[in-house]
Amino acid sequence: MRKKICENVLEAIGNTPIIRLNQLTKGLSTEILVKWEPSNPGGSIKDRIAPYLIAEAEKSGRLKPGGTIVEATSGNTGMGLAMAAIVKGYKCVCVMSTKQSADKVNMLKAMGVEVVMCPADVGPEDPKSYYSVAKKISEERPNAVLGNQYNNPANYQAHYECTGPEIWEQLDGKLDYYVAGAGTGGTISGTSKFLKEKNPKLKTIGIDPIGSILADYHRTGKIVEAKNYLIEGVGEDIIPDNVKFEFIDEFEQVSDQEAITILHRLAQEEGLFCGSSSGLAVAGALKAAKKLSGGRMLVMIPDNGSKYLGKFYNHEWLKSQGIKI
Ligand SMILES: Cc1ncc(COP(=O)(O)O)c(C=O)c1O
Repeated sequence: MRKKICENVLEAIGNTPIIRLNQLTKGLSTEILVKWEPSNPGGSIKDRIAPYLIAEAEKSGRLKPGGTIVEATSGNTGMGLAMAAIVKGYKCVCVMSTKQSADKVNMLKAMGVEVVMCPADVGPEDPKSYYSVAKKISEERPNAVLGNQYNNPANYQAHYECTGPEIWEQLDGKLDYYVAGAGTGGTISGTSKFLKEKNPKLKTIGIDPIGSILADYHRTGKIVEAKNYLIEGVGEDIIPDNVKFEFIDEFEQVSDQEAITILHRLAQEEGLFCGSSSGLAVAGALKAAKKLSGGRMLVMIPDNGSKYLGKFYNHEWLKSQGIKI
């Protein structure tokens, strides 16, 4: 239960609604519910991890009063960190790749964040990549720390302590399949670990964009070369520590076209205006559900569509990318 008055924006994080899909599931025997994370004050699931990343840096003594928190982000973690930094009196620097929508960049600038842009077409080890630049800034600036959402266990812990128990309570423990995309892996790994501890029979299905290396790595243990894809925030060209493969039973792979088709159907048939990674997650969930009989599935919806109006909801842009709507 949310407090009647939150003392600051951080107290308004979490306790997001669960909503049933009614139209896209026609003909399926599996019930599909979605966890509506856009209800978080910063507009995404990543609000949940920001206070944890900051608390960990404070506890370890790496972050001192008035210090700077630096992060490589596709935008949503940056928003969460911006909010937490403002409340706690820190500065915030976000390093982003040019793949991300202009609205995400402008949103962070609106929060007073210093945004550093890096090219999208370089490998993760390249000194120009957004991972490398964020690390370098955190090492060179006095009293600065890297949030390190990819490898910092505080990310995964946030979902183990908050998201997992919240879902379990909302559903009175009645859940058979948990479905989420993976970027850093914090959401799927932390939530799944908690849910599996409660119900060892629960199956967790990761949804990966075609072009990302996570699904292949899960299947073969080999790192393949990543290819470009359009969907933002999920899939990786590295294997982050926070992707805990032991808590993911299987992956479904989804193409940009499949994800974007479902993204538009979610808006127009369910009234759910989602971000691109939600289209991907639901498209993968529907693929998985077609192979199942019965049971209840919950799919994570990480953010809403407003930051993607110029891209995934813009028919001219979609056409230029070869996507048919
Ligand atoms: C839009 C969006 N969807 C999904 C994710 C994936 O969440 P996680 O990093 O916890 O795997 C992110 C992460 O940044 C995101 O921004």
